[in-house]
Amino acid sequence: MPNDLDIGIHDLSFSTTEFVLPHTVLAEHNGTDIGKYHVGIGQRSLSVPAADEDIVTMAAAAAAPVVARNGSDQIRTVVFATESSVDQAKSAGVYVHALLGLPPAARVVELKQACYGATAALQFGIGLVHRDPTQRVLVIASDVSRYDLDSPAEATQGAAAVAMLVGANPGLVRVEAPSGLFTADVMDFWRPNYRDTALVDGEGSIIAYLQAVEGVWKDYERQGGRPLEEFRAFCYHQPFTKMAYKAHRHLLSLCGGDTDKGAIERAIGLTTAYNAEVGNSYTASLYLGLAALLDQADDLNDEAVGFLSYGSGSVAEFFTGTVVPGYREHLRTAANREAIDRRTPLAYAEYRELHQRSLPTDGGEHLTPAQTTGPFRLAGIRDHKRRYEPR
Ligand code: HMG
Repeated sequence: MPNDLDIGIHDLSFSTTEFVLPHTVLAEHNGTDIGKYHVGIGQRSLSVPAADEDIVTMAAAAAAPVVARNGSDQIRTVVFATESSVDQAKSAGVYVHALLGLPPAARVVELKQACYGATAALQFGIGLVHRDPTQRVLVIASDVSRYDLDSPAEATQGAAAVAMLVGANPGLVRVEAPSGLFTADVMDFWRPNYRDTALVDGEGSIIAYLQAVEGVWKDYERQGGRPLEEFRAFCYHQPFTKMAYKAHRHLLSLCGGDTDKGAIERAIGLTTAYNAEVGNSYTASLYLGLAALLDQADDLNDEAVGFLSYGSGSVAEFFTGTVVPGYREHLRTAANREAIDRRTPLAYAEYRELHQRSLPTDGGEHLTPAQTTGPFRLAGIRDHKRRYEPR
């Protein structure tokens, strides 16, 4: 099998929710100085799913334009990465497969390791394309980040889905070897099966993330990766956008790099535009950062971009992508902006009501209120079976 095959991200599309909670509204409710949200954590607003939205509807909305543009003939694998799974057995990807009418001759599977899952999915997809370059892999990352109401973590919620088509001769980004890898058994953030909201050691999670940055970079160097100076930009997992700044400063100080504010802004500033408005989308967050970079940067032809994927618990990976000349023809800048701008702002009481909603568990027939104006909706639940429909 050739080692010099170009494989990577051919197309990327994202979706988010029907509703949005501006941080100004949250700050007014809990008496927080807005500077803490806007400057301290670097967040402007957070996406809130409607009663009839979830990881499946967001994922299908993200993937539909990818399938419409590229067709589905070559897609023989769908890997769905999430940590907001709706079923312990069935992959959420199987619902998406049906909603999009993908070919039956396909394998569909769900992957989990907190926010890192989508990077594992991308790497597994690349492996499959290496084996057969005529195939393409649909990688989907979809998550709803939910913490307890009135907890410090509440301000770092959010929701979004990213769909990426992985294939040979990609249109957007060639993914290179090697990767730097790091795993450590830490309880910085977790969600036991019996809970709807995540548990988190806020300060400890930031320390664990920074330790992982150190771990992946050391391994990346050992594997013969590129020197820091070769990178034009860096995309980080962004639980809140300020975390990308903390992480990049940490990486630079490890390597003796330039920690000047302007240099850091040039390296990561553009990657935070969508995450600042969407909030933490867990598995999707890193790739929302990539979308924001590609949509806004002047010219990235042949430029190297560093990717730092972190998932609590914890697993992390640093890898490199090179932006493919002509990538602009494949961008979805207007649609990406529209996905964010079309959201309807919620009053605090409306947000709180949505946060407290959960699907009935009695096995009866329950219809969900029709709230979303997106292309797919969760129509209801009957006999413990979720029912999805195009809208
Ligand atoms: P907190 O206790 O509300 O906030 O928790 P704080 O007191 O630490 O303040 C936050 C920042 O705002 C500080 O800046 C303050 O100084 C600043 P820093 O010292 O960090 O640079 N600040 C202000 N700035 C300007 N004007 C003001 C002002 N007041 C304060 N008036 C925390 C914040 C993020 C910990 C909390 O929201 C939380 O627990 N979030 C969830 C955990 C999290 O996101 N962890 C990130 C790393 S783990 C990760 O990325 C994985 C994850 O995505 C899950 C997965 O992998 O699946 C979470």
